[in-house]
Amino acid sequence: MADLVINRDRLLERHRLMASFGDTGNGGVIRPALSDEETAARSAILDLARERGFICSVDPIGNLFIRRNGEQGNQAPLRIGSHLDSQIPGGNFDGVYGVIAAFEVLETLEDRAISTSVPVEVVIWNNEEGARFSPTTMGSGVHAGALPLDQALAARDTNGKRVDEELARSLEKLGQLFRIGLGTESSGYIEAHIEQGPVLEASNTPIGVVTGIQGIIQLQVTVSGEEAHAGTTPRSRRRDALFTALDLIADLRALTTDPDDEVRFTVGRLSVLPGAPNTVPSNVVFTIDLRHPSEKILETIHAQIIEVAATFRTSCHIDAVTTLASPPVCFDADIRSLIETSATSLHLKSAAIASGATHDAKFMGPLCPTGMIFIPCRDGISHNEKEWAEFEHMVAGADVLLRAVSKWASP
Ligand code: GLV
Ligand code: MN
Ligand code: MN
Ligand code: MN
Repeated sequence: MADLVINRDRLLERHRLMASFGDTGNGGVIRPALSDEETAARSAILDLARERGFICSVDPIGNLFIRRNGEQGNQAPLRIGSHLDSQIPGGNFDGVYGVIAAFEVLETLEDRAISTSVPVEVVIWNNEEGARFSPTTMGSGVHAGALPLDQALAARDTNGKRVDEELARSLEKLGQLFRIGLGTESSGYIEAHIEQGPVLEASNTPIGVVTGIQGIIQLQVTVSGEEAHAGTTPRSRRRDALFTALDLIADLRALTTDPDDEVRFTVGRLSVLPGAPNTVPSNVVFTIDLRHPSEKILETIHAQIIEVAATFRTSCHIDAVTTLASPPVCFDADIRSLIETSATSLHLKSAAIASGATHDAKFMGPLCPTGMIFIPCRDGISHNEKEWAEFEHMVAGADVLLRAVSKWASP
């Protein structure tokens, strides 16, 4: 066990390979869920998996599973992984790091002929980012039964492309895959990820033992007014969807501005139709992403947002729909201590840390013992092409994952 470490050269090679899919030439990637670029990245990992004799499957929402069998064939697997889709544009670490670290663990177990009692399975979740299709963490949400499959398959991107059509197109390029059902059982789930915040770097700590994930609620708000001529229509006759949306957003911003700076309120997308300079906008759709560590506070603010939208005084029509509601999750104490002892066995300093970002692990938490390993990222920058993690930290996180997995999954 003392010499149990991953193959660092191979990890670097995999990282470079993944960075080539959707490379922006600016240090980042554009690899939206189910795009050709993400499909190529998924395909490359599947090719590597098949070369090693691992078993590759897909579920109805497009989550991929790469299995290395355990001694007891049909036991629920220990799952490890993350996502390959990116923000538009995104960095080269968010999600992809957790996938290549997990795949490296599988390969190292294979290289060293380490048998595990339960199967170990790499999961590549579909559409974690939600940058192309709403909501975020779609694949794990459907897997966990928190999001209806039909609703997810019917989601459209801003060009009107549907998840089911894009998934079918993507799957055609992925070769032979076994089909498995939704919600198949896991004996545990561990996800490695960059922190996406500044805490670990500031304290010079290579390993974060994640305590849990704050709650998140996402909404889509549609404001409907009426198109009118920009030059001839007096104010009193306008039903301007954009000005209504802006006033509403200002009120919601005031409502969610707390003195402790704990509430996270973001309007990340706003579309204006018909989008002509000389026409009063008739239709605005915007998203709200709301987060807080306390379920009670999150629910209270959520209810207030719905109330403000429903009672807002305007000549336009406002419709607010909740697209994602996921309460805060607290991770399993045994997995947390396993991550901590694995770090200690590698002489790596670790610290407990809460996750401000959301992750697929959030949906796994209620299903099985779940935990996450964080590594630092430069200046805490993420969802940005400048995202960066030191290679030493990537190796450290993968080594910790390897030790945690071999302990958890071994006889
Ligand atoms: C995922 O990237 C998130 O929204 O936290
Ligand atoms: Mn991520
Ligand atoms: Mn992300
Ligand atoms: Mn994320």
